[in-house]
Amino acid sequence: MERSVAEKRVTELHNLLNQYNYEYHVLDKPSVPDSEYDQLLKELVQLEGAFPDLRTPDSPTQRVGGEVLEAFEKVQHRTPMLSLGNAFNEDDLKDFDRKVKQAIGENYQYVCELKIDGLAVSLRYEDGLFVQGATRGDGTTGEDITANIRTVKSVPLKIKEPLTFEVRGEAYMPKRSFQALNEVKDANGEEPFANPRNAAAGSLRQLDPKIAASRNLDVFLYSIADLGTTGVESHSEGLNLLDKLGFKTNPERQVCSTIDDVVNYVNGWVEKRADLPYEIDGIVIKVDSFHQQEELGFTAKSPRWAIAYKFPAEEVVTKLIGIELNVGRTGAVTPTAELEPVKVAGTTVKRASLHNEDLIREKDIRIGDYVVIKKAGDIIPEVVRSLADKRTGDETVFEMPKECPECGSELVSIDDEVAVRCINPKCPAQIREGLIHFVSRDAMNIDGLGEKVITQLFKEKLIEDVADLYRLQFDDLIKLERMGEKSVQNLLDAIEKSKSNSLEKLLFGLGIRHVGAKAAKILAAEFRTMDVLKEASVEQLCNIHEIGQKMADSIATYFQLDEAQELIEELKTLGVNMEYKGPQKVAVEDIDSYFSGKTVVLTGRLTQLTRDEAKEHIERFGGKVTGSVSKKTDLVVAGEEAGSKLTKAEQLGIEVWNEERFLEELK
Ligand code: IVH
Repeated sequence: MERSVAEKRVTELHNLLNQYNYEYHVLDKPSVPDSEYDQLLKELVQLEGAFPDLRTPDSPTQRVGGEVLEAFEKVQHRTPMLSLGNAFNEDDLKDFDRKVKQAIGENYQYVCELKIDGLAVSLRYEDGLFVQGATRGDGTTGEDITANIRTVKSVPLKIKEPLTFEVRGEAYMPKRSFQALNEVKDANGEEPFANPRNAAAGSLRQLDPKIAASRNLDVFLYSIADLGTTGVESHSEGLNLLDKLGFKTNPERQVCSTIDDVVNYVNGWVEKRADLPYEIDGIVIKVDSFHQQEELGFTAKSPRWAIAYKFPAEEVVTKLIGIELNVGRTGAVTPTAELEPVKVAGTTVKRASLHNEDLIREKDIRIGDYVVIKKAGDIIPEVVRSLADKRTGDETVFEMPKECPECGSELVSIDDEVAVRCINPKCPAQIREGLIHFVSRDAMNIDGLGEKVITQLFKEKLIEDVADLYRLQFDDLIKLERMGEKSVQNLLDAIEKSKSNSLEKLLFGLGIRHVGAKAAKILAAEFRTMDVLKEASVEQLCNIHEIGQKMADSIATYFQLDEAQELIEELKTLGVNMEYKGPQKVAVEDIDSYFSGKTVVLTGRLTQLTRDEAKEHIERFGGKVTGSVSKKTDLVVAGEEAGSKLTKAEQLGIEVWNEERFLEELK
């Protein structure tokens, strides 16, 4: 074929494919069968193969995902990506309306839109061509996810006018795609995504665009960032322009002239949201006229012309079919509720931690009860209360066994802890959990050795303690399920590599009580070798600013144990490094910490440490602890029976962690 003929056909194919793609993915009204689309796409691929210079970035063939990136570049937003203030009830909405009225008088209208539960993205077009996609990041700087956005079929690679501007919207994963993805993950033994929002964010943060391409993501656009050349005067006109240009906008929007209409719209969606094919977490209300938006202006954080109404945390009822006991690495036995599977806040919940026996008793939760479930902070499943009036008499009161469910030794309560513990150092559950901890990322970081492989190795008696990991041979590993020669070799290489880790990784991996990853780093930097550290007295340890009495006692006790000394000698003989390789001294401020600069509120009863200890940890890592929850609070750590502070945090949409999550971070 001659080049000129090919060129003409390529243009025709672009137009046809773009049109069919638009009809299918934006309008949801396909006009041709899929087979016809596929045939034309195949023809275009072939033509581009024969004439590579005809392959342009806006070609419909460019959606399948190109090369794997090394990292995401940073993108400085030309117009900041702001977030919105929140409303949680009718009063908040009326309050917002009052302020609007005060500022701009009587004559205004609102546009109400669904608040899509995904992640904000900004799409840049130059002369009508899609050139860049970015995440929100901190609002000023985001990440360049162009390659991944290109794979989202409803995003036009070329729009109907040659405009240069940025459009903003919410990328999301439809409920059906989310379910299908989690089913595959489940079948592959991988951890499923907790909700469609995480799944969408996780997909767009993949360095391999082919993965994003396979995830069926979608985007609703809701604003034009720089309206300069577009001539529109209101938000609703802006949305109509987006439609005309070929973007996908959400069709459920509604112009409302009064706040009562807004409230009706909001209430209507509380019921109808379950029927939508995607998740929403509220309603966004915006003053329509741009002129009036300008008059209202912004506060430090968000526009005064818009507000986000957040739906209350969804509560559902299900049956508690059993209480399972898990023995952790430190021997703590935690009861977990086994539930009849139930959908809460977009995901199926089958289990929820019950923390300890006291909580079960105080909430009078019985096996066989109907219980109310919600997700604190929309993440952590929680049993709110039992429904005593639904009892049939067949329910049974839970009794914490006196013996460890794994090894049968007597369980004990230590000091004032609510948790009961198995103190048998040979308890298989503790050993297995300890091994899983040893290979984990912050410890020895052995790639390819996850929970599943460790459990298999342990069951087969190929490993009984961490030293055995360094004795594993090719022939041991090749026998395991789903292990090919290549993965066995990779695993052996990863084990070998871990031998040269700096001391702190080993120290953390040993699982000495109270010694988290950060303390391990401080200890390693201070004592430099295992031999020096193991001889350190409690007094010497306490002299280190960041090491408290409890930790010092625990370290000294650990190193006095014969088993610990033997293990260290064995590891040494097997070639595991026992020296610190990092910088001279580690200042706490130098350690990356979640808490630095954050305001944290502690509420409820903590079981593993006292309030004062928790406060001390947060402050050591640069955070501030305050007594009451307000909009300025960044995080609430909620222990047992957290009451009004937790409720307020949830109302304000503040991040909530349970104690487990908090301890995880401290590690
Ligand atoms: S407007 C300056 N409209 O909700 C106003 N946001 O804090 C920009 N969101 O992270 C936001 N659906 O990503 C707007 N229809 C919608 C939305 C929406 C979801 C997200 C947005 C932002 C958060 C608001």
